[in-house]
Amino acid sequence: VALQRYNTFGIAARAQRLARVRSVDDLQALIRHPDWAAEEAFVLGGGSNIVLTGDVRKLVLKVEIPGRRLLEATDRGWLVEAGAGENWHDFVTWTLDQGWPGLENLALIPGTVGAAPVQNIGAYGVELQDRFDSLDAVDLETGRLFSLNAAQCGFGYRDSVFKHARAGDRGLGLAGRALIVRVRFWLPRPWRPVLGYLDLERKMAETGITQPDARQIYDWVCDIRRAKLPDPAVIGNAGSFFKNPTVTPEQCADIIGRDPRVVHYPMPDGSVKLAAGWLIDACGWKGKTVGHAGVYEKQALVLVNRGDAEHPCTGGEVMTLARAIQTSVYERFGIRLEPEPVVV
Ligand code: EPU
Repeated sequence: VALQRYNTFGIAARAQRLARVRSVDDLQALIRHPDWAAEEAFVLGGGSNIVLTGDVRKLVLKVEIPGRRLLEATDRGWLVEAGAGENWHDFVTWTLDQGWPGLENLALIPGTVGAAPVQNIGAYGVELQDRFDSLDAVDLETGRLFSLNAAQCGFGYRDSVFKHARAGDRGLGLAGRALIVRVRFWLPRPWRPVLGYLDLERKMAETGITQPDARQIYDWVCDIRRAKLPDPAVIGNAGSFFKNPTVTPEQCADIIGRDPRVVHYPMPDGSVKLAAGWLIDACGWKGKTVGHAGVYEKQALVLVNRGDAEHPCTGGEVMTLARAIQTSVYERFGIRLEPEPVVV
């Protein structure tokens, strides 16, 4: 099976076998099959956060579980549920159309609802964990359906238990062991806008709108993303390629010494977050191309496929470019950038 259509980078890897999972029953039937082996399965959502560096020998489980519904509406909020296969942005749009605000800052993020908790997607001051209630998942070894609340998901910055192996540093790692089938969101009332992000403050200043409604914020976020980030339908990419690194105030002072323009944000815990895009940009990488892989000209944190459908970039080219960037950022600033997508 060709996977080129199933990963937003547009990398032309293949899978030996692919199964479309449309329901929990489908999946449990597959798990009961005598040939089933959990460690042989590879869970794929929208393919918007992976880099395929070769063919996938495992059985690809393409999650296509549909459904979205309101479970509860009180004067304190709305509880909304969506199937893991739903497109994330369509789901966000639907909640707003229904009159349930709260997810507007997360508009236009590529991928599926089921993949959103895995990396705790976040943008413009809101993270998935801020609107998360719980999820249902199927244990790929036993077929058992179980639920997790936010604490059990171990959310962190672009992180959760679903990104860690069983014996990982967080103990309860679920990477490769569970398939998320449904996610529930709690959208609190009264709704409060989240407007602290610089790009949104700029929009307020530009338009003179100081009390935007959720629909207005949604439109602004869509505008900002379209201006800065490549549309994967046009230019293959996997969003931010590196996490924004966190350093101590002493390290930050050292980097300011090397270049006082460094973009940095003090965190509530006393650490300092650096803009990886700025570090990469400062090393001169913006707009550069190596082989068929390149650095996006409007956002240096995004690596893109510079090939076409017939001659796309390979995962190897992307990783070669990524390593070259890591080396130059390390040599100039002493910071080790960590890739954000899952490298397969
Ligand atoms: N910057 C540069 N040059 C660049 C890119 C960025 O100088 O080439 C500077 C910008 O001027 C800005 C700062 O770096 O001052 C931060 O840039 P931006 O606001 O674009 O956000 P980011 O930190 O690069 C993060 C997330 C994005 C998310 C945005 C908005 C990560 C790894 N990335 O990017 O998430 O959309 O904030 O909240 O945390 C993703 O995860 O795939 C993703 C796109």
